[in-house]
Amino acid sequence: MKPTYYITTPIYYPSNKLHIGNAYTTIAADAMARYKRLRGYDVYYLTGTDEHGQKLQERAAEDGKQPLEFIDPIVDWIKDLWAKLDISYDDFIRTTQPRHKEVVQKVFKRLLDQGDIYLGEYEGYYCVPDEAFWTETQCKTDKGYFCPDCGREVKKVKEKNYFFRLSKYQDKLLKFLEENPDFIQPESRRNEMINNFLKPGLQDLSVSRSSFDWGIKVPNDPEHVVYVWIDALTNYISALGYLSDDDSKFRKYWPADVHLVGKDILRFHTIYWPILLMALDVPLPKKVFGHGWLLMPDGKMSKSKGNVIDPKLLIDRYGSDGVRYFLLREINFGQDGVFTPEAFIQRLNYDLANDIGNLLSRTTTMIEKYFDGIVPAPQEAGEPDDSLIQLATRTKALVEEHMDEMRFSNALAHIWELIGRTNKYIDETMPWNLAKSEETRGRLATVMYNLAESIRIASILIQPFMTKAPAKIWDQLGILDKPEALTWESAGVWGGLPVGSTVSRKELLFPRLDVQAELAFIDESTAEARRQAEENKRKQEALKGEVSVNETTANQTETQAAEKPADVKEEIKIDDFAKVELRVAQVVECVKHPNADKLLVLQLDLGYEKRQVVSGIAKYYTPEEMIGKKVILVANLKPVKLRGELSQGMILAASAGDQLTLATVDPSMPNGAVVK
Ligand code: MSP
Repeated sequence: MKPTYYITTPIYYPSNKLHIGNAYTTIAADAMARYKRLRGYDVYYLTGTDEHGQKLQERAAEDGKQPLEFIDPIVDWIKDLWAKLDISYDDFIRTTQPRHKEVVQKVFKRLLDQGDIYLGEYEGYYCVPDEAFWTETQCKTDKGYFCPDCGREVKKVKEKNYFFRLSKYQDKLLKFLEENPDFIQPESRRNEMINNFLKPGLQDLSVSRSSFDWGIKVPNDPEHVVYVWIDALTNYISALGYLSDDDSKFRKYWPADVHLVGKDILRFHTIYWPILLMALDVPLPKKVFGHGWLLMPDGKMSKSKGNVIDPKLLIDRYGSDGVRYFLLREINFGQDGVFTPEAFIQRLNYDLANDIGNLLSRTTTMIEKYFDGIVPAPQEAGEPDDSLIQLATRTKALVEEHMDEMRFSNALAHIWELIGRTNKYIDETMPWNLAKSEETRGRLATVMYNLAESIRIASILIQPFMTKAPAKIWDQLGILDKPEALTWESAGVWGGLPVGSTVSRKELLFPRLDVQAELAFIDESTAEARRQAEENKRKQEALKGEVSVNETTANQTETQAAEKPADVKEEIKIDDFAKVELRVAQVVECVKHPNADKLLVLQLDLGYEKRQVVSGIAKYYTPEEMIGKKVILVANLKPVKLRGELSQGMILAASAGDQLTLATVDPSMPNGAVVK
């Protein structure tokens, strides 16, 4: 029997069309699902939509529609997006389906019966767009109450609610996390979950609402609907038929091998979800991987900024392989990454059109020209053949090593190393010279075989990442109908390409793009969104009465007219900036430096460790004033001694002439949070 592999994506809110950030998770999960299938696993890949909640109800009402009337077309749009991206999911769950609702009700009832859920009173603040509840301390500011996540105003709410006793399971979960260090990936996020959320203590979680009704009814109390996380998280087991008449899939695939989620919802998957499963006496998933955000050059993607890129637009113009390749190659899974149109077009041109596309077209052209399109038998081998063969046969194991840890970018880098090496092999062997004489015909045959064989190996290894190119390559190599030359295993063995195959040069695998024209196209395609966003912003500001439209324009002109400072630095790449590790740190102690009037010695709490930093701010801040401040620390600066005191980093401040202000962050930000 095949080993099983169960992988899930988050279920998306169908309140808007998805953007390429959402598509990123699904593409990554798809690469993993395809990889495991190629390795012989019986894979179950689940995705879907999270369709309840106040936000969806309100969005539908704004359009004068019933919730499902509003949601259905968006779900169709999402499914069409996945079809365009060749997402190979096995099941698509919608939380409005009876198969899901029934399970949620059974789960809720069971927890109620066993006393893990109880009726209490909830008082707090609610952010409608984020569907998140906050406590007073989390969202109180001088100007009012705002969501610590998105900065929008929150509503005060007070109502009877059902609560889930998270606190009861806190110690059990901590023990589990300590005993299973691989459960939360990447490791840095594991520490964050344990230190910032679990160790400070869990409050019981409010799990129902009576202020809106678009949700699954609480059993025997129809005034209440089950609120968000119990409903949403249960999808991972309801889709498998847990507690239903046919639970064969649940028995077969559960526990999940990995839940892929964005870092913003990691907390729910590594605290609420394991506790819910513990309470149900169901085994926990093996791994939860919290990947980073896909950002735009000006920060987070958001409709209000107008920087959202529609994935369908990119797919229609550049093909799904290009989009999939770019996202998996450009970003280190786990870390944040930036989508810049320049990098996107460059990768399509260099990595795809040049490296692999050109290699295939040069190879097929030469085999057609020198051997009438018939792959010749290789003759004697020597250098540089041997080094090419060695690299080619080693690549599969390297790809596997990285894929097993979901390091997509590293896996691709190894495949491209082989492709690069093969291109270099053409320059080294100069087949056009070998073709000049009958004496070197044997050598020419070897070179042609090796080129085609190397491409065959690369084409097998790219299958998890690209879905269309492999078959196109096999067609051109004449091996589309030779399954034994296409198995994953055969990519680790040199010589799988049958001698005598007929190659045929067809259309270019990836066309070369005109950089300027494509940048203009991408820019143009987001122009309308930007214009809309600008318009909305102006309207909102004018409405608030804070700044009139005219004033805004006047201020802008003033800023533009200001003289350029003399110390403007040269432009750097994002990679240069990414080397600097900035983190939120809290000042827990502060004293004057014993040997220097201008310096203060600060003790900082970084969440995961303590640091001592010496800072030249004594003229501007007293030690007492500093206590409790959340500052920004350059955390990877080489430690130095300043007048005899160790300084492990530097804190940021703005300064102009004789003025200085520390850069501080909102107190709700956890210590250790990354600043970027
Ligand atoms: N419905 C919940 C998830 C419930 S799972 C039981 C939800 N939905 S969402 O539509 O808001 O977000 C879905 C996923 O998209 C999250 O994992 C989130 O991290 C991810 N992303 C949203 N914007 C993103 C980027 N810009 N980049 C990468 N992922 C992003 O949360």
